[in-house]
Amino acid sequence: MKKRIVAYKRLSDELMARLHAQAEVTLVEAPAADGLARLRAALPGAHGLLGASLRLDRALLDLAPQLEVISSVSVGVDNYDIAALDQRGVLLTNTPDVLTETTADTGFALILACARRVVELDGWIRAGHWRAGIGPAQFGCDVQGKTLGIVGMGRIGEALARRAHAGFGMRVLYHTRSPRPEVEARYGAGYRSLDALLAESDFVCLCLPLTGATQNLIGARELALMKPSAILVNISRGRVLDEVALLQALAERRIRGAGLDVFVQEPLAVDSPLLQLDNLVVTPHIGSATLETREAMARCAVDNLLAALAGERPANLVNPVAWERRNN
Ligand code: DGY
Repeated sequence: MKKRIVAYKRLSDELMARLHAQAEVTLVEAPAADGLARLRAALPGAHGLLGASLRLDRALLDLAPQLEVISSVSVGVDNYDIAALDQRGVLLTNTPDVLTETTADTGFALILACARRVVELDGWIRAGHWRAGIGPAQFGCDVQGKTLGIVGMGRIGEALARRAHAGFGMRVLYHTRSPRPEVEARYGAGYRSLDALLAESDFVCLCLPLTGATQNLIGARELALMKPSAILVNISRGRVLDEVALLQALAERRIRGAGLDVFVQEPLAVDSPLLQLDNLVVTPHIGSATLETREAMARCAVDNLLAALAGERPANLVNPVAWERRNN
């Protein structure tokens, strides 16, 4: 008998065909918006789930007693209750590696957009202000040769360090749980405490996963340590940063600017006070959002899902405890 898969994200025709060849597939689009009832109805009997951007809590898991695997089309796994999955012996997989370079590009896009005021000055032209030459009121600040502080030196942090070192001649500082001597050797990077990194960096980029320990890692105290000329970029998760404290720091020009790809509440409300700031650049969680990378992530997620449903250990298993539970 074919296993049953619930996909809560539409994949390319080729990948959907691969799923259909191996399993009975139910597609539930937009579960986070109006599709939650359809998802609930599809969960009983599901052996595998595939999707992203949906908080799968215990109440939803309880509706899927036959569930064997959740294949997340994301590297971040903060939407899942891993303890509950371990308890139930449900495997969780993610899609690391394939999105590393694209997400690092997003980090640099925000660094450059903030430093050179790309979005603000685009608006300035469209508003008809470019009537003569530009002057200091339109000047930005240099990126090349400055100091980039990377908080979280995982794959994406390292890809940023490489760009900064090799492409922009920047000095790289980093903070992570334990120092990484190989990164220091490759990129001339210096390990710092979080406070020292914040105080020394011209640009600070947050690249760390959201966990209990990293929630609100950057608040008013940390922002106060940054240079008034510094720029903060967040490409990790909204909740690693206290948005209210950031709003205040930006409004009072206590730091030069910020670039945010992620928010406490997504989608960001159109009346968010953040959108009143001219020293903030926002993007709608586009870290990995290119055609090529999203297809590679989906392919990786399908591989993980089909392997798990075939009883194989998937390549990108997040919770080995559940694997042990299923196989012992
Ligand atoms: C991820 O993969 O976790 C990115 O944030 C895209 O959602």
